[in-house]
Amino acid sequence: MSESNKYKAMGYKIVEHKFDAVVVGAGGAGLRATMGLAAEGLSVACLTKVFPTRSHTVAAQGGMSASLGNMGKDDWRWHMYDTVKGSDWLGDQDAIEYMCREAVPAVVELEHQGVPFSRTEEGKIYQRPFGGMTTEYGKGPPAQRTCAAADRTGHAILHTLYQQSLKHDANFFIEYFAIDLVMEDGECKGVVAIDMADGSIHLFRGHSVILATGGYGRAYFSCTSAHTCTGDGNGMVLRAGLALQDMEFVQFHPTGIYGAGCLITEGVRGEGGFLTNSEGERFMERYAPSAKDLASRDVVSRAMTMEINEGRGVGPDKDHIHLHLEHLGPEVIEKRLPGIAESAEIFAGVDVTKEPIPVLPTVHYNMGGIPTNYHGEVVNKVGDDPDSVVKGLYAIGEAACVSVHGANRLGSNSLLDIVVFGRAVAHRVAATVKPGTKHKDLPDNAIEKIMADFDEIRQADGNTSTADLRLELQMAMQKHAAVFRTQEILEEGCEKISAIVEKLPNLKISDRSLIWNTDLIEALELRNLMSQAKVTIFGAENRKESRGAHARDDLQDRDDENWMKHTLSYVDENNNVTFAYRPVHMNTLTDECEVIPPAKRVY
Ligand code: FUM
Repeated sequence: MSESNKYKAMGYKIVEHKFDAVVVGAGGAGLRATMGLAAEGLSVACLTKVFPTRSHTVAAQGGMSASLGNMGKDDWRWHMYDTVKGSDWLGDQDAIEYMCREAVPAVVELEHQGVPFSRTEEGKIYQRPFGGMTTEYGKGPPAQRTCAAADRTGHAILHTLYQQSLKHDANFFIEYFAIDLVMEDGECKGVVAIDMADGSIHLFRGHSVILATGGYGRAYFSCTSAHTCTGDGNGMVLRAGLALQDMEFVQFHPTGIYGAGCLITEGVRGEGGFLTNSEGERFMERYAPSAKDLASRDVVSRAMTMEINEGRGVGPDKDHIHLHLEHLGPEVIEKRLPGIAESAEIFAGVDVTKEPIPVLPTVHYNMGGIPTNYHGEVVNKVGDDPDSVVKGLYAIGEAACVSVHGANRLGSNSLLDIVVFGRAVAHRVAATVKPGTKHKDLPDNAIEKIMADFDEIRQADGNTSTADLRLELQMAMQKHAAVFRTQEILEEGCEKISAIVEKLPNLKISDRSLIWNTDLIEALELRNLMSQAKVTIFGAENRKESRGAHARDDLQDRDDENWMKHTLSYVDENNNVTFAYRPVHMNTLTDECEVIPPAKRVY
């Protein structure tokens, strides 16, 4: 029986589509790529599991960094310096140079496309200070570099990019869930997805497949990420036998609302807000005498955790910290921070003009992801060349690890990353794919394994619900891959997560329907979360040093001699994790800037 007949006999309807490029994900990165590809005259399909403007970029608040210099002197080289230092010298310096230089035209382009940035009195784009952003290579005063649309910058960018994509006639496949990559002889040929509304299965052929599937914050119990943030592209990459990079580096945002996890933007501290402990002390002055509350996120999150651990947390259980903005006055709050005033009211019952917000470090961002070069091409350790490219496959945004954030991302460098690399990938694909190039036929069994695995999950009839198993995973990650780590807690975590992963075949899918079967979709998401959790905890156990967001209580120093290298993690068919390494790129692209040598990281 031919393959399509076989799946028909199993009750599946399979529809084939052919495009020049297929983008998976419609957050800021996916939409910037989609728009750029369509504008270059390529036929492009953008698949998204939620309506594009519901993608998680919509929740980005504080802004996008770019050295426009609207509020004081600035230079992209200073931005580059801050980003390399923020990354704790794990970021690739050629990619960081590219991102910081391209930031300026990228913001100008967004402005011209219609993003309603906030304005200065003279009508220039408003820029606020953000953590770790300085002038004069760290020697000058804080930089005002973060371009903001009040505290709803992601919302403004996402809506603009969606409208621009429609203008350029991009094709959207909305509420399609991508299941797996179609690989042949090491090349990516397309992607298989399910239309969640009618249960049909779709094979999207693309000369270029661009993964813009975001992070996997939902591997943790408490995160600022939407429920949709399950890192589906990362899961697909691991199943394709490819590596993920630097997964041990998970960012905790200092100010998630206590108990709810919702983000309170760093822009609050950028506008003059500050943190206090139970003694009313502005404790950041002790930990970061110069940058104080605007030190980088890993530093602030660790300081808050230490205050709580030493008994100086606030509240009846002394288990959180206060964030003050009462002193800013209603006018500044109304103009610059209206969204967080609303969130604090809804999720903490707090009137920010009168009382502090209860906050706690909360999982926010994955520095790790699919390894790429600065064109967005996926690189993998194939043979001896750690930088060799996987043909046909690209990754951008939080799904990718370019690596521009290294071991710790600076706030507002994420909106920048998605726009700059969404744009870069569109340029790269346009330069390499001729519009309308014919697709070669795939072998008859090209999607057989994908469909067999999918069918196995759909038919799962064990004794564990998806929700219960996911909760078990999230609680284990929360406990064992937290702000501070030790060998003992990580080893225990590896054992626990491995045991949880082995329970995946015990899932019970409540019904066999293909139409709006949210239990089935959540099981597919859980499969993706599982493998990512596994490489995260094993990667953390494997890295014997402290660097950026990977802080070990038992190994407190950075070890450049042995560990200034990227971790590549693979998962085999039996869920075993193996590692390989790539060197950090300590080179620049041009002679307009210099390599920033490793130094002690103080703020
Ligand atoms: O705090 C924030 O507004 C978040 C920004 C970011 O993660 O870049």
